[in-house]
Amino acid sequence: MKDKLIIFDTTLRDGEQSPGASMTREEKVRIAKQLERMRVDVIEAGFPAASNGDFESVKAVADMVKDSTVCGLARALERDIDRAGEALKGANSGRIHTFIATSPIHMEKKLRMSPDQVIEQAVNAVKWARKYTDNVEFSPEDAGRSELDFLCRVLEAVIAAGATTLNIPDTVGYNMPEQFGTLIRNLRERIPNSDKVIFSVHCHNDLGLAVANSLSAVINGARQVECTINGLGERAGNASLEEIVMAVRTRQDIFMCETGIDATQILPASRLVSSVTGFAVQPNKAIVGANAFAHESGIHQDGVLKNRETYEIMRAEDVGWSANKMVLGKHSGRNAFRSRLVELGIQLESEDALNAAFARFKELADKKHEIFDEDLHALVSDETANE
Ligand code: KIV
Ligand code: ZN
Repeated sequence: MKDKLIIFDTTLRDGEQSPGASMTREEKVRIAKQLERMRVDVIEAGFPAASNGDFESVKAVADMVKDSTVCGLARALERDIDRAGEALKGANSGRIHTFIATSPIHMEKKLRMSPDQVIEQAVNAVKWARKYTDNVEFSPEDAGRSELDFLCRVLEAVIAAGATTLNIPDTVGYNMPEQFGTLIRNLRERIPNSDKVIFSVHCHNDLGLAVANSLSAVINGARQVECTINGLGERAGNASLEEIVMAVRTRQDIFMCETGIDATQILPASRLVSSVTGFAVQPNKAIVGANAFAHESGIHQDGVLKNRETYEIMRAEDVGWSANKMVLGKHSGRNAFRSRLVELGIQLESEDALNAAFARFKELADKKHEIFDEDLHALVSDETANE
């Protein structure tokens, strides 16, 4: 029996921190419904102390969602935690997520606090949050640039204060996969009672490594991943949910855990988030990009037509696409061309007619990025006219 990997979606909180991605209460509720349908374990709905609007959004999500845990973010301050506790009152299952920075640069330059003061504030915050719920997550912000000994002290103290999930953020996306995996292993080995809590990770994508770092952490014992739909998030974004979920599912030979996500809901979720935020998904984006399951070259098309597994490690249908796609372009071969004609119900009289049509298709493909079905109809009727 494999462990459960908890999927914590923060599209509505860290995702919303993408410049230009702010969402109304109704939009957050629509996205939360889709996340619940997808069987996300924890939905971080927002930062209730940030504004009255965000408080109302978190409250609306908490009141509506039944099957997922709803989480609200709070700085390690009583007034922030009170707002989160209030917003989450109606939740079937609620979580407060409190955080304070632990890296030397953040403590000295931003917080202007000593390490001992930071520990004291973290402990007080966790105890305060426990007045509202026994589901409390603590994050040492900028853990990826914090000192290991100090991180261990902070985390040991917050476990004693009642934290149930310890989330390790690589806030500025600075870590390398092996380094980040080792950090998680060291923390688990060095902190007393670490087996009583869930280790979580929260990786940013400044160097394009958010997914790789998260997966390395999972290999080293993290059992919650914080991620967002389409990798939306502050600056270069967060680890993308669809990539994490499908990597763990596709490489079950490597991972000792599995998620409870209904992957067929991934594409609808991606499209919804893209339409709500106006952030387009790049065509070559893994899993949800328009080209993720599209084949253009003749060699690949021929392989896929014979056996999909030659060039597909996942099934398009498993993540919500209706099918994979053969794109006809200048690299395409006769086999894919013939197969598309058959799909379109176009019958050519003879092999010679097919060869002539294929030659015309290649001429056209040199002038156009992609050949559409209408082009094929036109091309074949020209062919018939020429006969
Ligand atoms: O990136 C970060 O450190 C965060 C924390 C609030 C978890 O978003
Ligand atoms: Zn973040």
